[in-house]
Formats: sequence, structure tokens, C-alpha cells
Amino acid sequence: MKFDTIIKGGTVVTASDTFVADVGILGETIAAIGNGLSSDAPCRKIEASGKYVMPGGIDVHVHLQLPFCGTISADDFVTGTRAAARGGVTTVIDFAIQDRDKGLMAGIEARMTEAEGKVCVDYSLHSIVVKWDEATRREMDKVIEFGIPTFKMFMIYEKEGWQSDDAALWSGLAATAENGARICVHAESEKVMSLLINRYLREKEKYGAYAHVLSRPNFVEEEAVQRAIKWAEVTGGRLYVVHMSTGGAADLVRDARRKGTNVHAETCPQYLLLDDEVFKDPERGHLYATCPQIKKKGDSERLWQAITHGELALVATDTCTFDTKQKAMWEGDFTKIPFGLPGVETLLPAVYTAGVLEKRFGVNHFVSLVSTNPAKLMGLYPQKGTLVVGSDADVIVLDPERKKKIDWQELATNCDWSPYQGMKLAGFPETTLSRGNIVVADGAFVGTEGHGRFVKRQPWGEL
Ligand code: URP
Ligand code: ZN
Ligand code: ZN
Repeated sequence: MKFDTIIKGGTVVTASDTFVADVGILGETIAAIGNGLSSDAPCRKIEASGKYVMPGGIDVHVHLQLPFCGTISADDFVTGTRAAARGGVTTVIDFAIQDRDKGLMAGIEARMTEAEGKVCVDYSLHSIVVKWDEATRREMDKVIEFGIPTFKMFMIYEKEGWQSDDAALWSGLAATAENGARICVHAESEKVMSLLINRYLREKEKYGAYAHVLSRPNFVEEEAVQRAIKWAEVTGGRLYVVHMSTGGAADLVRDARRKGTNVHAETCPQYLLLDDEVFKDPERGHLYATCPQIKKKGDSERLWQAITHGELALVATDTCTFDTKQKAMWEGDFTKIPFGLPGVETLLPAVYTAGVLEKRFGVNHFVSLVSTNPAKLMGLYPQKGTLVVGSDADVIVLDPERKKKIDWQELATNCDWSPYQGMKLAGFPETTLSRGNIVVADGAFVGTEGHGRFVKRQPWGEL
């Protein structure tokens, strides 16, 4: 046989299996997996003995160069996807906001113009619905046909003009029962949250950044998740709850799934590794502001349990990077902090270290959480999310034990701080291949801008 690259003697890890083998790559795909592979023509060899060889990570929730909170998120399509590659993420899913006049496809085309020529790994988009009407309902079919089977609806962000009301959410979910799309929901209760924000705004000097915590107690998320689940249940629709942050909401998803409601959910490393004590730091507390808010230790524990037992399907990051200068825009007013955190680069290390090395679950389950389940749910499987003959050669090679101390100065993300600063994390890849091309070698980015492609996704994605 002929290969362009052989990854030699590594421990191949998929969501279901662990075995020692060579991985042969021809062009952009995996051509063979077996022992003693050799090539009839000259070929590149990557020595992987003692290392894990895994499918690249898939981060289904990133906001690169997003105009938000009076600024633009600091990681653009270049730096954000470079950071992804360095963290072993070979596919990201960003968002395209509906053009109120021209529709969903116009928003998608505009966003693709921003991404093309810049992305360093493959990408897709979720289509954000901000105006639900019959034309939007019809256009959903076109968008699905184009390769985007996921639609985002926000239950908050009323003043940004992004909010979907219950009627829109109900109708969107009803549509997915027929067209196989999935509605991705940011579930927080706008009215109650606004009331609490106004209450704490009157005493903003007293509470500082911690007012962000006080104005978003757990029931703000739980009530909205419960409502969204109810709409999914009664419509037979297909729901996906993004950035789930509370233990109570994890219980709701578990119970609804047991009853047969088609709901899945993601949580994020910030809700697993951090807790709301971070907001008490008078100098740095505001940096951690994101939406929904980072909750209590008990929530983290429940979320770990939920991802360990398969109650929540996957971990994504909600990357929305703001540097210290942008965060300083708050000037003591918690409602003015740009909401969001860097994250795509540390997704795999965070979940690997706290999940696998701290013995919460095994390495196959890790692959399911950051690669296989995202691929299946988002309609990318088996092109991505696994290592089999014929799948895209999106592969990472990592040392199972080697830890590095997180220092923002050594990360590729365009940010001058890290929520995980000082933590010792393993799981950074030595080598990352994106469709057969080496984009990270010896931990350094060696890829090219524009290498990444838009990938079409299929509807009816399930685990
Ligand atoms: O604070 C966040 N998460 N910023 C990005 C927008 C969103 O709600 O996901
Ligand atoms: Zn959100
Ligand atoms: Zn988000």
C-alpha cells in the first residue's frame, strides 16, 4: 500500500477501543489501521510508541471575532483556530446570526466570508435565529440542505435583539420533529434575571463582580431549561441545551431523557473546574464573568457526575475571548463586563486531566465526550469523531502523563490571561493532524491560515 504518513506504534484510542497499532494516512483520510504498516512510496513517519493516538477534538461552541458587549471577542478565525489546533481540536462550530431582512442564509454567507482564508482547522456554523416567522421556517430546509442542521435560539439577550420568545422556541422545536434539525438553546430566564440585575445594580459598589453571581442564581437557568424541555416534550422536537452550568438543570435533562424527550446538553470546562469563589478576587474577579455564570462546587460535582454517567453528552467551551483591557470596560459595573472566556485551547487538557488522570472516567469515555459524541450529535460522524478507514485524518498524538503548567504567555489564544493559569494539565497534543496535514508538531503550531474548510453536516444526529 501507499501512504503519505504513518503514525507508528501508538495506542489508538477511540470511544470504544484501545489497542496498539499503526495508522496509515493517504491524502486527507485514514487509509489503514493495523500492525506493521509500510508504504510502497516515500512517506512521513510519526513515532508514537507510548503515546495516545486519538481522533481530534470537536468543540461545538465557539464565538470567534464576535461583536458582543460593546467590543469584539479577541480570538479571530486565525488565532482561535490556531489555539484550537494547539489544544488538539480539529473542528470548531461557530455561529452565524440571521440577517433580519435577508434571512438565515444571508447571515451564513456573511459569516463564511469572515472565516474563509483564515481558519486553520475545519469549521462549521450553527444558524442563529433572531426573527421567527413562516419565511424562517421555510428557510430552515434550505439551511439544512446547505449542511447546517443546528439552529440556535437565545432565551435571553432581549436588548441585543437576539431573544426568541416561547412561541418562537415552541415553533422551532416543532419544526425539528419534521426536518431533523436540532434547536440549541441558551436557557436563562430573562425577566427574572433582569429584575435581579436591576436590584444588584443599585448596590454595585458593595458587591463588585460578585453581583454577577448574585443576579444569576441557579433557578435562572433551571427555570428556562425546564421550560425548553417542556416545549421539546410536547412538540416532539429535538433540543440541545448549550453551556449548562447547574446541577439542577443536569437533573432536569436526565429526568426528561428517561421520559423519552429528545434533549441533550453540553457543559463547559469553566463549570467543571472553577467555582464562583473566583469572583471574590477584587483585582481579577471580573475577568471570569461569562454567561451563564460559574456556579458553586456542588454544581461542578453534579456536572462531573452527569458527564461521567452519560446524562450530559459532551463538553464544549463557549469560547468567547476577552482580554484584560476589554474586561476593564466594566469600570466597576458588573453589567458592563464583556461576557466570555478563552477556552478552546484548554478543552482537551482540562477534561483529560480532571476526568481521566483524576480517575473519574476512562480514556475511551474522554474521547466520546470531546470528539465522538459531538460528531454524532452534530451530524459529522463518522467523517469526524473517530479513527476508522475512510474518516478524515484528524488525529492527535499525545503523551498520556506529561503535564504542563498553564501560563497564558505560552498559549496561542489571543488573550493576556487564562482562567486556568497555574493549573498543571496534561492532554496537550505533541502532534495534531488536520485532514492529513500536520498543523501542530512538537506542540508548536505549524499549520496555515485558510487550510480549514467548511464541513457540511447531516440532520437527525443522535448518539
Ligand atoms: O458569556 C458568553 N457565554 N458569551 C458568549 C455568548 C453566549 O451567550 O454564549
Ligand atoms: Zn449563550
Ligand atoms: Zn455561546
